[in-house]
Amino acid sequence: MAITMKVNGADKTVDVDPETPLLWVLRDTLGMTGTKFGCGIAACGACTVHINGVAERSCSIPIQYAAGKAITTIEGLSTDRSHPVQAAWIAEDVPQCGYCQSGMIMAATALLKEIPKPTDDDINTHMTNICRCGTYNRIRKAIKRAAGITT
Ligand code: FES
Ligand code: FES
Repeated sequence: MAITMKVNGADKTVDVDPETPLLWVLRDTLGMTGTKFGCGIAACGACTVHINGVAERSCSIPIQYAAGKAITTIEGLSTDRSHPVQAAWIAEDVPQCGYCQSGMIMAATALLKEIPKPTDDDINTHMTNICRCGTYNRIRKAIKRAAGITT
């Protein structure tokens, strides 16, 4: 089944089973491997992308749901890591192994779009992705840096 969506601003048409998870279309069909596979059951957030500006877990979104929608992946934030959230991540030296981090950045970007100056409670509520390296404190600092909050 041919499905058309906008990925990082460009129209993309794919011919796949409509039940195929969006994650696998991004990674295998479109070759965009910045979005990661962790649990496959919408629990860890490693696969987070934006669909029409909202953070969603692409491992559990059938591609048919993405038809006609705007998808943003980590590759779409900037081509040179200059997006404010990416820059804050670099400044705070957030990643350890790095596996969860594109999902974390996409979740944080969606949070800051919705709440430009998030409180600790806002961060706790919205950042439900899992980091097995335990980088949560640096993630919090990077979100606040990107928001221009001095601590
Ligand atoms: S891989 Fe999608 S939430 Fe874990
Ligand atoms: S940096 Fe290793 S899982 Fe988060």
